[in-house]
Amino acid sequence: MSRMNYDKDVTSKFFDQAAPGYDDTSYAQGQPNAYRLELVKDILKGLPKGRTLDAGCGSGQLMRYLVEQGYDCAGSDLSPGMVEQTRKTLSTLTDRSVPLMVAPLDRQSDFADGGFDIIASLGVIPYVPESEEGAVYRELRRLTKSGGYLIAAYENALFDLFTFNRYTVEFFEQNFLPLVAAPDRANLRRQLEGLMVNPLAPAAPDQSAARNQVFRRAENPLVLPAKLKQYGFEVVDTCYYHFHALPPLLRNSSPELMQLSRDMEIRHARAWQAMFMASTFITVARVV
Ligand SMILES: C[S@@+](CC[C@H](N)C(=O)[O-])C[C@H]1O[C@@H](n2cnc3c(N)ncnc32)[C@H](O)[C@@H]1O
Repeated sequence: MSRMNYDKDVTSKFFDQAAPGYDDTSYAQGQPNAYRLELVKDILKGLPKGRTLDAGCGSGQLMRYLVEQGYDCAGSDLSPGMVEQTRKTLSTLTDRSVPLMVAPLDRQSDFADGGFDIIASLGVIPYVPESEEGAVYRELRRLTKSGGYLIAAYENALFDLFTFNRYTVEFFEQNFLPLVAAPDRANLRRQLEGLMVNPLAPAAPDQSAARNQVFRRAENPLVLPAKLKQYGFEVVDTCYYHFHALPPLLRNSSPELMQLSRDMEIRHARAWQAMFMASTFITVARVV
């Protein structure tokens, strides 16, 4: 879904520069991250209250909740700017020293084996290419106690089937055409485009969107449980957020769709339709 090549330094600098205004842009009322946080708070309420790591803590919105609720917690992030922002967020909340470190997901070397009951990593794995995710999951497994939990948020690859645009054509090309033993893939792609009214939309992608500035990728929620099992995690819950009541291409002709979409958040987080209508999801997995 991202056309950007992966470069860890570019990612780190992108989030350094985003850090000071991150809460205002990403956590404003009605923003998807705000719904994500509500869902995660709810998930945490159903789990034993143990030592918790927020891996990829960003500006510290989840850390704030953990500290307020009295969790023994720690945070880490690739971006020094984000870690600094978390430090600021927490500074007025507690005199307790909360361990915070600058570290990539695959090298959390300050933290001991089995040091955490819960690891949250919300919207962070999408910024790691598939070729490096094995190292990430092994590291997260190393840090989590047996019987502990991983709460991770991803971009939803299946949402591309709901958009009837360029991303839908790409989804077919990447996921269905490889099963079709046909020699002329380019021709098949053209035929697929012919089925679509807007095969080239979005034509001018929003340059301010993260996915057009840094590498980012989606995950298929149907495939993820088997993938996580390889690393010792068993998926026990999946819920969706960032709803689109209808494909985004219809948004301009019906501004009220925005509100209808927001009305679906939380309420339909576990509906099967959400697997297509929501562009992001949270998976809860238990360490087995
Ligand atoms: C979309 S933000 C989400 C921040 C936070 N988890 C939240 O929910 O608000 C993604 C975060 O992941 C961090 N990040 C990106 N790649 C990372 C990596 N390889 N290791 C650790 N953190 C990473 C970024 O610096 C950024 O703070």
